[in-house]
Amino acid sequence: MTAAPAATNRIAVVTGASSGIGAATARQLAAAGYRVVLTARRKDRIEAVAAEINAAGHQATAYALDVTDRAAVEEFATAFPTIGVLVNNAGGALGADPVATGDPADWRQMYETNVIGTLNLTQTLLPALTASGDGTVVIVSSTAGHGAYEGGGGYVAAKNGARVLAETLRLEIVGQPVRVIEIAPGMVRTEEFATTRFGGDEEKAAKVYAGVADPLVADDVAEAITWTVTRPSHVNIDLLVVRPRAQASNTKVHREL
Ligand SMILES: NC(=O)c1ccc[n+]([C@@H]2O[C@H](COP(=O)([O-])OP(=O)(O)OC[C@H]3O[C@@H](n4cnc5c(N)ncnc54)[C@H](OP(=O)(O)O)[C@@H]3O)[C@@H](O)[C@H]2O)c1
Repeated sequence: MTAAPAATNRIAVVTGASSGIGAATARQLAAAGYRVVLTARRKDRIEAVAAEINAAGHQATAYALDVTDRAAVEEFATAFPTIGVLVNNAGGALGADPVATGDPADWRQMYETNVIGTLNLTQTLLPALTASGDGTVVIVSSTAGHGAYEGGGGYVAAKNGARVLAETLRLEIVGQPVRVIEIAPGMVRTEEFATTRFGGDEEKAAKVYAGVADPLVADDVAEAITWTVTRPSHVNIDLLVVRPRAQASNTKVHREL
């Protein structure tokens, strides 16, 4: 049996770590012994989370990064000759319009962030993950990547792209010391996800979770990510679908209204 990856002194890069699932994942990986590098566009937010992690006696640094900016990502990657873990979490949804009227700009931006952003980080850090002799790439997709729903078109398309990226990469690098893990969360109540989706409209955002007794929270998903990453090196959790009990599918949610 292969030993579990030694977490101490290993570096874990987390994208989208300024809020929600990414911030929670950074906290939990740091608590598991990783030196966490938090990235997102909002520097003040990642610096605050990193400071909190360091104050708790763990190790974290912050690096402002837009995952869609290829040149910036390439420059970021040069700082890391070797890393243990990359969590591709940056992403999200924009709009909930039907295909007939959806805004192509929203579709394009969702593809850029959820797919090309993941591609940018994964491509540029793959040599460092391989060099570690025991690397792990996590891709946070969504249950949207596993089934369509009305009004989900652009997000479903983008998250299917992220899912296929994970599947393809796993096939292509088999034999190399890098695992590829896909985490597909269902409904997670994070501070910003739904608000961002509806362009800041808090009323519309609240309706997403209306009457749902217990949606997942960021820590639930972070715990799932941390569990997969800390399995022994030879164990590759290909896909973990995590939903709240009240959500049986993307279109079947129990609401107590
Ligand atoms: N909440 C849910 O119900 C749910 C369900 C399934 C999957 N997911 C997925 O889980 C991930 C995290 O979602 P969340 O709920 O935690 O949402 P969130 O709180 O809105 O977090 C999204 C994160 O992505 C970052 N981000 C967005 N665009 C970026 C860019 N171009 N470059 C770098 N960072 C960028 C944001 O930081 P900055 O704005 O500071 O850059 C933020 O930290 C997303 O991929 C989302 O699609 C969420």
